[in-house]
Amino acid sequence: MAERSKADRKASGKVKVAAVGDLHVQEDAQTSYRDLFGEVSREADILVLTGDLTNLGKPKEAELLAEDLRACSIPVVAVLGNHDYESGCVDQIAATLRQAGIYLLDGQATELMDVGFVGVKGFVGGFGSRMLGSFGEPAIKAMVAESVNEAMRLENAMRQVRAKRTLVVLHYAPIPETVAGEPPEIFPFLGSSRLAETIDRFKVSAVVHGHAHRGSYEGQTPGGAKVYNVAMHITKPTGRPYALLEI
Ligand SMILES: [Fe+2]
Ligand SMILES: [Fe+2]
Repeated sequence: MAERSKADRKASGKVKVAAVGDLHVQEDAQTSYRDLFGEVSREADILVLTGDLTNLGKPKEAELLAEDLRACSIPVVAVLGNHDYESGCVDQIAATLRQAGIYLLDGQATELMDVGFVGVKGFVGGFGSRMLGSFGEPAIKAMVAESVNEAMRLENAMRQVRAKRTLVVLHYAPIPETVAGEPPEIFPFLGSSRLAETIDRFKVSAVVHGHAHRGSYEGQTPGGAKVYNVAMHITKPTGRPYALLEI
């Protein structure tokens, strides 16, 4: 059945993307994602992981994820999340995942099945006119600079895309709608409108992100780009931890 629908999609030129974030793989290996990865391989053409792949950013956690991903027979595109930075081993984690064949994007674009995948982690900073401004102490200015820098890296990656269809892959949210459900006090730590401002300068098919475990599934940028919070904890139309998007 799944194979037939894959053939149908091929005929229509559509690509089915399974997207999920915030796996938070832990060293004690209590949870295996092998069955889930096997399932998405039957359901979709490409798997997208939206960061917080590991729980504490430990190399062993990345190794466990890489082992589980052997059950995945479709291409995997991913970005890292803030948790993947926690132990200061991000280079090792990235190397492990790339060796496992994952297209790990950090300010780059890659084209698969005629779809451009553009990935950057993003950063905090808040939304709309209430975004944190570059004023006052150097520490605040450094924080805003990091937020602006991630938006510029997204822009540079967008410029690399030659495909007609583009999926933007983030960890942090670009809009407040998809973090709704989280305590309002932490909204500024869940994402930044600077990402949406950049996205809206281009034509994109959809945007996926994670990070806001208690946020909302669906929203759109001021420019009309569809945005999906695919953190695995979010209730989705599939009734499964992953979203399915036809691009
Ligand atoms: Fe997370
Ligand atoms: Fe996160």
